[in-house]
Amino acid sequence: MRPDTPRTIRLKDYRPSSHVITHVDLNVSLHPTETRVTAKLKINKNPASSQKSKDLILDGEGLDLKHIAINGTELTGKDFKRSDTSLRIAKVPDTFELTTTVIINPEANKALQGLYLSRGIYCTQCEAEGFRRITYFLDRPDILSTYKVRIEAEADEAAVLLSNGNPLERGTVAGGKRHYAVWRDPHPKPCYLFALVGGNLSSISSTFKTMSGRSVDLRIYVEHGKEDRAGWAMESLKRSMTWDEERFGREYDLDVFNIVAVSHFNMGAMENKGLNIFNDRLILASPDKATDAIYQSIEGVVAHEYFHNWTGNRITCRDWFQLCLKEGLTVYRDQEFSSDIRVRTVQRIREVRHLRAHQFPEDAGPLAHPVRPDSYIEINNFYTSTVYDKGAELVRMLATIIGEDSFRAGMDLFFDRHDGDAATIEDFLTCFEEAAGQDLSHFKLWYHQAGTPRVRCHTTHDEKRQKLTVELEQETPPTPGQSKKKPVHIPVRFGLLNADGEDLHKPVQGEPDTTSADLIHLTKKRQKFVFEDIEHCPVVSLFRDFSAPVVVDFDRSDADLEFLGTHDSDGFNRWQAINTLATRLIVGRIEKLKGATSTPTPSGLIRVLSTALEDDSLETGFKAELLKLPSQMDIAREIGAQVDPGLIYKAHKQVTATIGRKLAEQLEAVYKAMSSTATFSAEPEQMAKRALRNAALTLLTARGKDDDLKRLTKHYQRARNMTEAAHALFLLAGQGTAHSQPALDHFYRKWKKDHLVIDTWFAAIGQAPRASALANIKRALKDPAFDYYTPNKVRALVGSFAMHNPSRFHAANGSGYRFFADQIIHVDRFNPQLAARLLGAMGSWSVLEHNRRELARAELKRIAKTKGLSRDTFEIVGKMTKNSDG
Ligand code: BES
Ligand code: ZN
Repeated sequence: MRPDTPRTIRLKDYRPSSHVITHVDLNVSLHPTETRVTAKLKINKNPASSQKSKDLILDGEGLDLKHIAINGTELTGKDFKRSDTSLRIAKVPDTFELTTTVIINPEANKALQGLYLSRGIYCTQCEAEGFRRITYFLDRPDILSTYKVRIEAEADEAAVLLSNGNPLERGTVAGGKRHYAVWRDPHPKPCYLFALVGGNLSSISSTFKTMSGRSVDLRIYVEHGKEDRAGWAMESLKRSMTWDEERFGREYDLDVFNIVAVSHFNMGAMENKGLNIFNDRLILASPDKATDAIYQSIEGVVAHEYFHNWTGNRITCRDWFQLCLKEGLTVYRDQEFSSDIRVRTVQRIREVRHLRAHQFPEDAGPLAHPVRPDSYIEINNFYTSTVYDKGAELVRMLATIIGEDSFRAGMDLFFDRHDGDAATIEDFLTCFEEAAGQDLSHFKLWYHQAGTPRVRCHTTHDEKRQKLTVELEQETPPTPGQSKKKPVHIPVRFGLLNADGEDLHKPVQGEPDTTSADLIHLTKKRQKFVFEDIEHCPVVSLFRDFSAPVVVDFDRSDADLEFLGTHDSDGFNRWQAINTLATRLIVGRIEKLKGATSTPTPSGLIRVLSTALEDDSLETGFKAELLKLPSQMDIAREIGAQVDPGLIYKAHKQVTATIGRKLAEQLEAVYKAMSSTATFSAEPEQMAKRALRNAALTLLTARGKDDDLKRLTKHYQRARNMTEAAHALFLLAGQGTAHSQPALDHFYRKWKKDHLVIDTWFAAIGQAPRASALANIKRALKDPAFDYYTPNKVRALVGSFAMHNPSRFHAANGSGYRFFADQIIHVDRFNPQLAARLLGAMGSWSVLEHNRRELARAELKRIAKTKGLSRDTFEIVGKMTKNSDG
């Protein structure tokens, strides 16, 4: 244990702040190593505080304090006391103006929190606690202030000077040698939403007419020469603004909306008021440089950050324990946006894939925590899939339980009642209780209880009485710090299919209060739902549209799955049935490799896929999803214990090849039919075609014949856009040198000067499942295009190795773990947030088979023992190794 064990913050310790800051007047004079920040703060004693002390304690980290004054009178050394993280001023008046001047060093800031430089551009990241690295402040989300910001810089550095709100004034000083700009944000906001950008940037612009007829100036700032790659983001922004007006009645509230793309960013993007800052990966796109996946991410993330203007900014969080109030809700909103403008079923399949791949393992491992956590050491560690994705599922369940109309009424009430507030989950839920006239106290348990509930399903049909009984039983496994779990309120959408595959639509008997057509509510540990007048046993479709974030345990025949996979009117469950068949097949293969005598037969899966491919009524994008097999990670999760990633890799490869062979003719036809010569478009129809074509290519290539590899190379060479090129590159990178090297070399030569596109090359190397993977990765780390200080690069190479290269990462000799641990230790020295996030990739180590588990444990212990470990990594590795001695 390190000597200075970091402090744990607890929800139950929340107290209103002793003081409030009503207005902030900031003056920032930019300089690469000595930026001067003068803050004039209007401070009042907080009437809501019960604190007796008259002292004021401000947060501040890495600040070189030059001046400090109260109401214009300079303070002396005995009036205040400083520590590494705070400034305490003794006996302040009830109302006063505090002025501080500090010097900070943006160039030295490699943690990318606070003010830093990214390829010559000054930018900020303040969420969650970065503002304290810019000036002394009450850095907590329940302190809301209006801001006036003046930025000044050398003329050649100052083509663009931006902050939140509306522009007030621009000009020059020092005989034209220095530029300045003044911004005013009239909307009171917490300091985590503060932002500033300065530098030599170019921009594209557009305007948006809001629903009340106001005109908003929209602008996206990018590096010079990249303007032509910002169009899709602008398109996405305008669609988002329209959608929020139409679907939620939310209008934008400033004269300008600015987005800036920067190359150094720890996350995806940030919703600073009126000045969103983005990882350039999520802004820049053109057909030859970005894949369809990136196009869709851009659309979704631009929407997400824009939607925060109401869910996050106008209504913010009282404290960081309420993070899901803004993030879970905003993810739900961006998912609904994508569903509305693309294909809903396909979007849902993707959401659930993502949830299962990230949130389920988190919820089942040492990092499990409730959607609303009750303690943390480092808040940056709690921007998790649980808070985001499970948080979004809770909002979705809420809408399912109370119904769409009540949900919308509840949202309206929330916006109405809490506009301008720093709110809590309780505030949020109360609005829905009132709007729906329904008690949601049972539902609320979802926010407190960690772990994924498992629902066991059993059906019986009594032919004589013509009765169908559906028995459901729920159990949530224990998680760290929570052993006993209560039953939660689980909405179950369902259907009963007759022999023709049609829905029966029968009411449930006996529980009139909790049931309605096609929706039942499981609220107890065990419950029976009875349907009458059912002559023949139907096939039961449960959890349609994935109506609750649970693991469904339903032991049903391959024949039933095949039937659902062919007939279910619910697209999600149709996909689910087929996905389950594929999972069974791969797991059966693993058993076979381990020496089982029975060989699993692929015939059911082949039949159902074949039927689907011929079905003209099915969406092309849906077909593409059907052809994507469960990933190796999905299979590992299904197995759950004593996992051998080497075997999974082998079995997965064999099954992929089998399907490629058995469906060859149809896949060839699809591959041809989906090729298009039309001009590129990012609209759903074209994207779906490319996705289906790529999926067919994956299966066909898996057969591994010489002709297949030749075709793959041709696919790469003739690619008409990055979606085709990158897909082929990733497949090629996993082949022998003769096939992989020419493509990798070609891609490198073509894109090495584009710092964004070259990350695809790093990712291809990181996730290529070859024996030489680690050697190749180590060589790539020394490539001139690699840079440890750019998180995108570390994630592309090291992150994709840990997350998408299971057979090499989990190499039986432990080389993958050793390498990864070395990388974590290195990155932790300058960017703790990035290191801690990456380390999460090892969260499921305890489900591994004995040998690998021991190797992984040893590396985690080595990380834990490292001197000078950050709070971020200390917390994550501590949880991962807790109670693991032996
Ligand atoms: N507010 C977050 C960004 C953030 C996260 C800042 C953690 C500081 C610490 C932003 O709204 C967000 O959630 N971004 C996501 C993308 C989104 C589409 C889920 C991200 O950056 O990954
Ligand atoms: Zn967000």
